[in-house]
Amino acid sequence: MSAPFGLKENVTFLAPMQDITDRGFIEVLCARGAPDFCIAEYFRIHEYFELSPHILDAILNSPAGTRVAAQFIGENIGYISQAIEALKRYCKINMLDLNLGCPAPKIYRKNVGGGLLRDIGKIAEIVRLIRSQWSGIFSVKMRIGFDSTDNFDELFDAVCSGNPDFVTIHARTVKQLYRGTPDYEFIKRAACRADIPIIANGDISSAAKALEVLKYTGCAGVMCGRHAVRNPWIFRQIRELAGGCEVYRPKLYEVREYIEDLSRNFLASEERIKHLDSRLKKFINFIATGVDERGEFLYNMRRAKGMGELLKICDRYLLENGNADKLFALDAYPNLCSRPNHEDFPK
Ligand SMILES: Cc1cc2nc3c(=O)[nH]c(=O)nc-3n(C[C@H](O)[C@H](O)[C@H](O)COP(=O)(O)O)c2cc1C
Repeated sequence: MSAPFGLKENVTFLAPMQDITDRGFIEVLCARGAPDFCIAEYFRIHEYFELSPHILDAILNSPAGTRVAAQFIGENIGYISQAIEALKRYCKINMLDLNLGCPAPKIYRKNVGGGLLRDIGKIAEIVRLIRSQWSGIFSVKMRIGFDSTDNFDELFDAVCSGNPDFVTIHARTVKQLYRGTPDYEFIKRAACRADIPIIANGDISSAAKALEVLKYTGCAGVMCGRHAVRNPWIFRQIRELAGGCEVYRPKLYEVREYIEDLSRNFLASEERIKHLDSRLKKFINFIATGVDERGEFLYNMRRAKGMGELLKICDRYLLENGNADKLFALDAYPNLCSRPNHEDFPK
C-alpha cells in the first residue's frame, strides 16, 4: 500500500507521548531530523473537556513545516462531536487521530483509549461520527486487541468502517502494556486486508528495524515513540538507510548537546522548573541505553541528586575522558532497560 497523502514511501511519525511530546520536545527533535508527521498528546474528551493550551501550543506553534496532528481520547458521541466543532475553530489543525490504545488502567476502565477495544459497536459509531463531521485527515491509533487478539479482524474492520485516511497499529494488546515482543504479523494482516495505509508502531528501535518491519509487513510507514526520545536522529537515519545513503552517526558530545537543549526547553516551561532534574532523568533514562554498554551512565545518573550533580555525570560520560568523540549506538544496548517497571529488557 502506498504512503498517505501522496508522500514518498516509508513515511515516518513521531508517536504521541503524554508529558513528553510537547512543543519544546518537538522542536528539539526536529532540529535533529524531523519525522514527516507528529501526533500530539491526547485531548481527554468528557463532559467538561477543554482543549488544553499546552497541547494546542504543540499543534499550532511547532516549527514551520512540521505537521502535528491532534489526538482525542473519549467515548461519548455527544462530547466528541462538540470537541470536533471546538477543534474546527483552529484552521491550522487539519489532522485528527483517535486513541484506541491507551493501556493505563485509570483510562481503560472508563472505556476510553484501549478500553474501547472491548466495544466494537461503539468504535464503529465513533469513527463514523468523526468521519462525517471532520473533513481533515482522520486516523486511528489502535492496539491489536484488549486482552487477546482473537477478534483483531473485527476490530480492524470496525475501525475501517469510518474510512480513516490511515491506521496506526501498535502491535501489542492493551493488557501487554509495553511488555512482550510486538506481533508484527497483525500489521501485515491489516496491510493485506484493507485498502488504506497502515503505519507500524511498537519497538521500532532503529533505522534497520524500521526497514525490516516495512519490508516484512508491507506497511506504508513507521511510528517511533520511546526510541525517538533515546535517539532523536532516528527519523533522518531511517530516510538515509532507505535512500541507500550513509547513515548519520552522532557522537556523544552531540548527545550532551541534545540533553542541554532538553533542559533549556524545560527551563522555558515555568511550571516544570521545580522538578527539573527528575524531569530530565525521565528522558535520560531512554538516552542512556545508547551511551555505554555497561550501563554505568544509566546507573549513575539515576542516583544523581539535583541538577548540578546530574549535569556533572552527563559531562563525565558524554564529554570527558575521551568520550566526546565516541559514537552513540544506533540501537539500545540489549542488556539495558529504560523503565524496568514498565518494559522488558530489549531482545
Ligand atoms: C510515556 C508515554 C506516553 C504515551 N502517551 C500516549 C498518548 O498520549 N497517546 C497515544 O496514542 N499513545 C501514547 N503512548 C504510546 C506511544 O504512542 C506508542 O504507541 C508506544 O510507546 C509504542 O511505541 P514505541 O515502542 O515506539 O515507544 C505513550 C507511550 C509512552 C511511553
